[in-house]
Amino acid sequence: MGRMSVVRRLNGALILAMESSTVTAMSTRADDYLVEVKDVYEWFPIKGGLLGRTIAHVKAVDGVSFGIRKGETMGLVGESGSGKTTIGRCIMKLLPVTKGNVIYDGTDITKFKGQKFRPFRRRMQMVFQDPYASLDPRQTVRSILTEPMKIHHTVRTKQEANAAAEKLIDTVGLNPDHLSRFPHEFSGGQRQRIAVARALAVNPDFVLLDEPTSSLDVSVQAQILNLLKKLQGEYNLTYLFISHNLSVIRHMCDRVAVMYLGRIVEIADISTIFNNPKHPYTNALLSSVPNIDPRKRKMDAEILEGDVPSPVNIPSGCRFRTRCAYATPKCQEQFPPLVEIEPHHWIECHYDIDFKTARPTLSSEKGSSTITP
Ligand SMILES: Nc1ncnc2c1ncn2[C@@H]1O[C@H](COP(=O)(O)OP(=O)(O)OP(=O)(O)O)[C@@H](O)[C@H]1O
Ligand code: SF4
Ligand SMILES: [Mg+2]
Repeated sequence: MGRMSVVRRLNGALILAMESSTVTAMSTRADDYLVEVKDVYEWFPIKGGLLGRTIAHVKAVDGVSFGIRKGETMGLVGESGSGKTTIGRCIMKLLPVTKGNVIYDGTDITKFKGQKFRPFRRRMQMVFQDPYASLDPRQTVRSILTEPMKIHHTVRTKQEANAAAEKLIDTVGLNPDHLSRFPHEFSGGQRQRIAVARALAVNPDFVLLDEPTSSLDVSVQAQILNLLKKLQGEYNLTYLFISHNLSVIRHMCDRVAVMYLGRIVEIADISTIFNNPKHPYTNALLSSVPNIDPRKRKMDAEILEGDVPSPVNIPSGCRFRTRCAYATPKCQEQFPPLVEIEPHHWIECHYDIDFKTARPTLSSEKGSSTITP
């Protein structure tokens, strides 16, 4: 079957007439969003020459828009260097954005600083990948948990702080004896439980989880993931869950945004992403996940060839075209529009590809096309 006969061009009602770099459509519905990221850019300058002028930029986040609904776990997945942590740091205001807006519970916090930002800092907490590095080795667990309570005035007295710390340590599956110990006395999993308790110490409503289990043993990973799920219900939390592990994403998330080279290329609910991926990058990521059931292993799994291009020199047109198995000359020339392919399912691709029947472009064919990868 000819390739173009199964690669349906997107047209008519499906394409929304909008500038793909300035789209905020993914967050314009009447959804109840706690966090909205609106066309955010984070470009890190590269200085050079004798005068130390800016000679180029690392375009770590290059026009990203999405919303996180209250009470959901939104996943952010993509290869290393795709900009996941950077977008997380933009939301947490650990980085000033180059351009764009971050809206928190209806308030534009992009320019907030100091006292004005303090109430939002309490409401937005984070848990990092490495519990060894994120806990101060000189503080006892009690001090690690009570210090943020004092800073944010969530307790009035020392007794209240101690009682809150005892309740928290129990909630995360440790016991009050652990409060007088130091981080080095704990295993990796226990340290991550302490990091989770610290995040919860100030009653946040949003928690950024940046690869919270990737440094842990597989058996411990499951315990921490289940703890995070349990706490989400108990504390009414909204999560942004960053991971490059698709199995973990599937276990944890309600929706997923797939990131490639500084942009979100596909966003949908979890079952749609896993059962009906529409962007070639998502499809390739899913194909690369090994299946332990040999009967379900795909013999024709698409291999994601090559490395992610440098975010300093982003390819023209579609930034995935240098690795895309379905690229055409149009992909080099034109930036693909962001399209709502079905309700709440967005992709950034020129085509609506049926991966079951479409024939990927072979490497040899790519060389003969007009595309210069
Ligand atoms: N402070 C910085 N200055 C310059 N470049 C940076 C800075 N922080 C991140 N980058 C670059 O921005 C890009 C995105 O980095 P980021 O850490 O957000 O990726 P990531 O998706 O979280 O990757 P990983 O899965 O490895 O954690 C990378 O190319 C990285 O080198
Ligand atoms: S290279 Fe073309 S076919 Fe591949 S993802 Fe980009 S727009 Fe779609
Ligand atoms: Mg990261």
